[in-house]
Amino acid sequence: MSGRAALHVGVVTLFPALVRGALEHGVLGRALERGLFALDLVDPREFATDVHRTVDDRPYGGGPGMVLKVEPLRSALRDAAARAPAGVRKVLLGADGSRFDQGVARAMSAGPGLILVAGRYEGVDERFVEQCVDEVWSIGDYVLSGGEFAALVVMDAVVRLLPGALGSPDSAAEESFGDGLLDWPHYTRPPCLDGASVPAVLMSGDHAAIRRWRLQQALGRTWLRRPELVERRELSGEERELLEEFKAERAARTRS
Ligand code: ADE
Repeated sequence: MSGRAALHVGVVTLFPALVRGALEHGVLGRALERGLFALDLVDPREFATDVHRTVDDRPYGGGPGMVLKVEPLRSALRDAAARAPAGVRKVLLGADGSRFDQGVARAMSAGPGLILVAGRYEGVDERFVEQCVDEVWSIGDYVLSGGEFAALVVMDAVVRLLPGALGSPDSAAEESFGDGLLDWPHYTRPPCLDGASVPAVLMSGDHAAIRRWRLQQALGRTWLRRPELVERRELSGEERELLEEFKAERAARTRS
């Protein structure tokens, strides 16, 4: 845990090897290697006090599954917090959390960091949630068998925003959600593949036309796939015009 890293990420997990393994690759792996963020993995099982190293127990009130106990989780989180800089956000990952999105990722990338607690099994004792963490985050409306993959999703989304994590400094700015819209379509060589051609405007060298085409595609795609994002957005005059044209062209295509 270098004091020089821009971001500190602690992960409390029963599967540290899974998390470490995922961090050996790609943008996250490179960022870790280059010291852009510091990683601290803590396994609650190390803090279980009985001979069986028990971390879970049956739910009061009955029902299926097991519930993660307070004590090992709390000790693991305290251990992680003792090595973290002041001000890190302590977050439990769970399907019952508030939604993690690009805005949260951006805020977190400003530091100082996070301690992510991966839930498991059927749930986590509510007293741990109430007393030990600042927030509960969900990465989407579906249920995972545990919080490890969610923690990795959060780490990826946050770390790639750190200066120097991506090849080009523009990459993070010019992508889906960069300004509240989905990304526009991308193409590379060959210019024609099995009869499908790259849109001519992208090969025209006309940068103003390319910018307008990309903005129109981003608007149209967002309108088609995530209409609520368009409804939430205050469209500029140009954006309104481009979206109307997109809709009209699409309507004409479906009529013909
Ligand atoms: N754990 C289980 N499901 C999850 C979800 N959707 N988001 C975050 N953590 C989870």
